[in-house]
Amino acid sequence: MQFDTLIQGGTIVTAADTYVSDIGIADGRIAAIASALPREAARQVLSAQGLYVIPGGIDVHTHLDMPFGGTTSADDFESGTIAAAHGGTTTLIDFAIQYKGQTLRTAFDTWMKKADGRAAIDYAFHCIVTDLPDARLEEMDALVRDGVASFKLFMAYPGVFMVDDGLIFKAMSQAARNGALICMHAENGSAIDVIVRRALAEGKTAPKYHALTRPTTAEAEATARAIALAEMAGAPVYIVHLSCNDALEKVREARDRGLPAYAETCPQYLFLSIENFDVPGFEGAKYVFTPPLREKWHQEKLWAGLAHDDLQVVSTDHCPFCYKEQKEMGKGDFTKIPNGGPGIEHRLSLVYTGGVAARRFSANRFVELVSTAPAKLFGLYPRKGTIAVGSDADLVLWDPNKEETISAATHHMRVDYSMFEGIKVKGAPRQVLVAGRLVIDNGKFVGKAGSGRFVKRNTYTGL
Ligand code: URP
Ligand code: ZN
Ligand code: ZN
Repeated sequence: MQFDTLIQGGTIVTAADTYVSDIGIADGRIAAIASALPREAARQVLSAQGLYVIPGGIDVHTHLDMPFGGTTSADDFESGTIAAAHGGTTTLIDFAIQYKGQTLRTAFDTWMKKADGRAAIDYAFHCIVTDLPDARLEEMDALVRDGVASFKLFMAYPGVFMVDDGLIFKAMSQAARNGALICMHAENGSAIDVIVRRALAEGKTAPKYHALTRPTTAEAEATARAIALAEMAGAPVYIVHLSCNDALEKVREARDRGLPAYAETCPQYLFLSIENFDVPGFEGAKYVFTPPLREKWHQEKLWAGLAHDDLQVVSTDHCPFCYKEQKEMGKGDFTKIPNGGPGIEHRLSLVYTGGVAARRFSANRFVELVSTAPAKLFGLYPRKGTIAVGSDADLVLWDPNKEETISAATHHMRVDYSMFEGIKVKGAPRQVLVAGRLVIDNGKFVGKAGSGRFVKRNTYTGL
């Protein structure tokens, strides 16, 4: 057999197994996994001695080129996917937004145009639904048939994205029929709005009040409500960017009852806390995203949730806004700070550092959290999310001993600060392949913008 690329001598780590083997790649897919595959049969040989070979990371929550809060997220599909590749992410799922009055198809077409010709890694879309009269329900089915098999609904941001329980229940009932997965931004937006107005009336305008006006109870209440609505509709539900123990307990209770309830958390909730607002001047704006940062003790609860499968996925919610000019739009009024933070590049290194290097869970669980479970939940498995004959050759040659310090001075995201500035990580990609093409080689991007493919996803089948 002839291979385009042979990966030699690596320790293959999947969600299930750890073993030493070679991998032969042909036509963008894994063609053979065996010990001592012949070097002569390959055009290119990559040595993986001393390295792990893991399936490419899958980030199921990104916002590239997204209009939000009066501006647009700073990474587009070119800069964002290149930064993702640097960190070992080979597929992302972004959000196509349906604005009120629009068809769902318009949202999908708009975001397909944003990605086309720019993405350097493979990509797919969820659709954010803001308007769902009965006549539009069939549009959900049509999108599912076109590979957009999940929808995000917001219980927060009144007047922008927030929808009511009736719409949520209708969408969930439709998902129960068409096999889609509903992703839920779970915060009680109406109650938060009252708290925010009170704070502003009291002259509390600094960035930290973004966090102080969004209590954990508002997240827990909405999480429980989302789960209850999904139970009534007979649909699965996936809670996005879960930030606190109160909400985690609601997910755990549901899962203990056997409900198909899932949740992701993000590195910012694992590594940062409300203490990050203790910085001079307006700098706290760098940490304004939603849900907000919590007290430090929640971090350990979230790590335990990841270890014990109460949480199934780590995504980034990458939604970058530059400090200069974008975050600064909210000087004097925290509600005008565009919500979101940059993280697409460092997800794998941060989860490996806090999870595997810190001995909270195994390298197999790390792979499951950043690649396999996202692939399974969002209809990409087994094409992606594992290392098996026939799967896409989306592979990361992972150096478990590489130490780096995260900094805006060296990152590749198009944003002028890092939320994780100064954090030391252990574990980083040495080489990254997308569909058999080398895209990262020892810290250098060697891929091509525009070579990423849109991936049609299958319907939800569970984990
Ligand atoms: O602050 C955030 N998370 N911005 C992105 C939009 C969202 O709610 O996911
Ligand atoms: Zn959200
Ligand atoms: Zn988001």
